[in-house]
Amino acid sequence: MELTKYEENMYNGEYGEGKAECMEILVSLGKIYDAEKMIPITSAQVSGVSYKTIGDAGLDFVVDLGKKADVTLETMLNPAGVDIENWEELGFSEEFTKKQIDIIKGYESIGVMSTCTCTPYLIGNTPMLNDHVSWSESSAVCYVNSVIGARTNREGGPSALLAAIVGRTPYYGNHILENRVADMIFDVSYDFNNEAEIGALGYYVGQIVNDKKPYFKLTSNPGRNNLKLLGAALASSGAVSQYHVEGITPEAEFARNHDSFDELETINIDETIIKDTISKLSTTDKIPDLVCLGCPHASITEIQKVAQLVKGKKLVKDLWICTSKAIKAISQQCGYLDIIEQAGGKIVSDTCMVVAPIEELDYEVIGVNSAKAANYVPNMCKLDVVYDTVENLIDMISE
Ligand code: F3S
Repeated sequence: MELTKYEENMYNGEYGEGKAECMEILVSLGKIYDAEKMIPITSAQVSGVSYKTIGDAGLDFVVDLGKKADVTLETMLNPAGVDIENWEELGFSEEFTKKQIDIIKGYESIGVMSTCTCTPYLIGNTPMLNDHVSWSESSAVCYVNSVIGARTNREGGPSALLAAIVGRTPYYGNHILENRVADMIFDVSYDFNNEAEIGALGYYVGQIVNDKKPYFKLTSNPGRNNLKLLGAALASSGAVSQYHVEGITPEAEFARNHDSFDELETINIDETIIKDTISKLSTTDKIPDLVCLGCPHASITEIQKVAQLVKGKKLVKDLWICTSKAIKAISQQCGYLDIIEQAGGKIVSDTCMVVAPIEELDYEVIGVNSAKAANYVPNMCKLDVVYDTVENLIDMISE
């Protein structure tokens, strides 16, 4: 692999042992993928934060790295296993929380911002079109490639962290413009009414395309919140890292004008497919004992909508809205947090229904409006799931 003088010096240890180790691993990774060079990056997002998923081995890795290296650019963490401020009230164990805090402190010692979210683009880690970045949470990867038009592969947590330390990532895959073209066209005749339908579209298409890039022709603009849910679903039933929506996403025109486009297979999507997928995403028809929204982490407009829906109501089951600390703070300033808490709900920060040890709490059925959560909760948390719109879920648990 061709390295610049600066990269070579980092590789050879002139900038310390930590950077040399990071370069060595990233160069080896680049060689596996035939990368001809490294490319500078402008931001990173690091998964592998929850003690539930990385355990003691992950904690040791982070603490060890913190002794010899620092990140050199804007880097945020993925959701952790607990809400660090309200873990006790939510029912998480002290033992788990202590381990989780140690992991977060370890990341802080490397210079990573300890805000834990899968929607960093909503709170300031917002790359620009054509920026090269190194992100690892799959829905965030899908959003940043598709909706923002910055470029990242689906990194693992460690490779994103190492890239943040040296400011470089191997130049292959999604970093190369030619690899960002569409692979299959989905002509969607159905006019979407809600987020459960758009999530079902993502779930269905992800199963077909796996890691390829779908190009959607939709009848209307789904908006940013629904694009977030669409990408999360695509990335969970498949391994999609980028999609295009005609007339909406920034690289759709590039994909449309590419020589390969006219040769692509087109699949038609109608109402029957969407309704059928929605019904398959629920594992039970029982009333949820917890409705958990915010997968990916909720935006302020999604929280505003929940506040409008629960205003003046009394919730008879638990309601969590997962988001970042920053969006929770804005919710408080706007008065939404008070409205939601008065109804009996909670805004939960830094964690989510999938990476938290929610299976250790007393819940059996979780209601979600995210196809990604509906896909993961039964397997990762061993709980039943009800997949529906936010309006219907709140109706189910309101008096
Ligand atoms: Fe984010 Fe957790 Fe969903 S990390 S995308 S809220 S599973």
